[in-house]
Amino acid sequence: MDHDPAGHPGHPGLGDLVDAWLDGYAVARQLPVLRHDGVAEIEIASGGRRLEVVVAEPAPALLEATLRRLVGTTDVWVTVLTAGQWAPDPPDGVRVQVDDEVLMTLDLAPAAPSGSGSRVVVEEHGDRARAVVLEHEAVTAVGWVALTGPPATPTAVADRVWTAETHRRRGLGGAVMGALQGWAHAHGARRAVLAASVEGQALYAALGWRVAARMTSFAGADGPP
Ligand SMILES: CC(C)(COP(=O)(O)OP(=O)(O)OC[C@H]1O[C@@H](n2cnc3c(N)ncnc32)[C@H](O)[C@@H]1OP(=O)(O)O)[C@@H](O)C(=O)NCCC(=O)NCCS
Repeated sequence: MDHDPAGHPGHPGLGDLVDAWLDGYAVARQLPVLRHDGVAEIEIASGGRRLEVVVAEPAPALLEATLRRLVGTTDVWVTVLTAGQWAPDPPDGVRVQVDDEVLMTLDLAPAAPSGSGSRVVVEEHGDRARAVVLEHEAVTAVGWVALTGPPATPTAVADRVWTAETHRRRGLGGAVMGALQGWAHAHGARRAVLAASVEGQALYAALGWRVAARMTSFAGADGPP
């Protein structure tokens, strides 16, 4: 049986979930992932970041070596995923950049009938799909999902879920997620994973997603705030 540091009986370990998330994130954004020496690197090239280095439950020596890479850099992040509580203690020249995001997971169920009034349109793009709500030809809510892993039993990775500020708390985010989850289930996925912002966590928790890991991102202390 798999060791499960996240403490969810019947689910694979955190490393497996993080690998699936990274692979699906890379599919969703069409970005390359490089793995070496216990770390994964994604060429983000947006939001002030050139590179994001990801490690899950790193041993102390790997964590220290990975964080030291940040000293003197301005465009690299290191994101550490941990299942348990963790008080990060970055070395000199490195600061905590983001510490309120989490990795969340959900056992997927078939889509509930959306009803004739649903305004969500799902567009397929190969192993990705985009769910969108339009009002007067403007996007009011949108989200992506990508499939990764064995075609018979893929993992679904949701990404870039967003509702226009003027349209929040009207159920659009939930409708977009329902459409993405339903599309993924219809394509064989029984497990879904995503990285959630604080606002996202409230939405996903309301939809039954649960926290699998804390995410802490670090950057060089001289980089942009
Ligand atoms: C997160 C986000 C997509 C939610 O979209 P939304 O259309 O407002 O979500 P919904 O109206 O479908 O919310 C459904 C339920 O989720 C929960 N929820 C959603 N947003 C919440 C918030 N900000 N605070 C508390 N609960 C929230 C509530 O239970 C809500 O039901 P209720 O309104 O009846 O109480 C939106 O806030 C957003 O775009 N934020 C900025 C981008 C972002 O962080 N995206 C997530 C990336 S992981």
